[in-house]
Amino acid sequence: MKAEPAAKTELSPTSGLNARVRELVAQGRDISVLTAGEPPGPPPEHVREAAARAARAPDGHGYGPPAGLPELREWVAAAGAADGDRVGAENVVVTGGAKAALFATFLALLAPGDGVLVPTPAWPTYGHSVRLAGGRTVTVPTTAATGHQPTEELLERQHDDGIRLLVLCVPSNPTGAVLAPRRLREIGAWCARRGVTVVLDQVYGRLSWVEETEPAAQVLRSAGAETIVVDGVSKTYAMTGWRIGWLVAAPPVAAAVTAVVSHIANHPNRVAQVAALAALRGDQEPVAELRRHLLANRERLGRAFAAVPDLVDHHEPEGTFYAFPSLAPLLRRRPDLPDAGAVARELLDEAGVAVVPGGSFGAPDHVRLSFVEPADAFERALHRMIGHFRH
Ligand SMILES: Cc1ncc(COP(=O)(O)O)c(C=O)c1O
Repeated sequence: MKAEPAAKTELSPTSGLNARVRELVAQGRDISVLTAGEPPGPPPEHVREAAARAARAPDGHGYGPPAGLPELREWVAAAGAADGDRVGAENVVVTGGAKAALFATFLALLAPGDGVLVPTPAWPTYGHSVRLAGGRTVTVPTTAATGHQPTEELLERQHDDGIRLLVLCVPSNPTGAVLAPRRLREIGAWCARRGVTVVLDQVYGRLSWVEETEPAAQVLRSAGAETIVVDGVSKTYAMTGWRIGWLVAAPPVAAAVTAVVSHIANHPNRVAQVAALAALRGDQEPVAELRRHLLANRERLGRAFAAVPDLVDHHEPEGTFYAFPSLAPLLRRRPDLPDAGAVARELLDEAGVAVVPGGSFGAPDHVRLSFVEPADAFERALHRMIGHFRH
């Protein structure tokens, strides 16, 4: 019998949106694209140089260790150790992006039907990835009233005996919220009591404006929670297409994940691993520059939205390059628009601005817009967006 697609999952909603944007651009429309999940790039020059050298080297072309190149694992471990974590290379597994680290973790740790708590609004991949791995997603709805942060009480409400993991994204895609240390401590203690392991997604960890007194992983671990940290070079160094991420976990977990990845990709591309190490070790000024750029755009956004409380309810993001305003005020004024998806369609077709509707993140009244665009293009997008609903 012919193999039929098992339809286990689907492409992300942003891929459909991006296809529509490409169609409009091909028709000659000038579109302001605020859907980007990546900095404009390119990666720093020394990173590209390191990759070119690695590609030309006569050795280093063969298979490497499934957990990743030892020097990269050691660097990641040493950075963790500098933050107060007692970790070594045996705690680190390098993967083809943070996305692959998450999926391999779920594959390695979840038995069929095991539950994973996911506070929402959340990046949709968590749910898809958990389900693909045979697990069960249990959402923990949060609201703007609690700063989009989960609390012990909210977690307890959704807990059941099959729950194994809790996913935390700090700073959060899509809300930009950063969990306060007090809240993290409370969550860590709850997880320790309930025997729930935290999967802490830190891919935006270096793009935060909150003064970090103690790294999030350390707060969770010192509260007694077993914690798996997922991170990567994509967002910090404009290396999204180079596909390098990693996880830092207790050695038995790292070994289980290594076994899983050894049967999938074996290990990520060696040249990209060398480049990732160059990014981590090298001059960090490009990261500082990206942060300054994002901070300036965040202020532009804050000023623009503060002037239109009848259209949006905006909470300033504390990290990432996303804002996640509620459109509830606009939706009240425009009953013909049922949700933010309809607003996003109107914005794209009539004002030429692409934003991501919040429905797939679990927040149908919100939109996510990214503020990585150059200042003038970003100003123009804001002007178009606000101007459209003003008339
Ligand atoms: C919250 C979050 N985690 C992980 C990732 C994946 O990053 P990577 O490019 O390292 O796979 C993304 C990318 O959009 C993200 O938004």
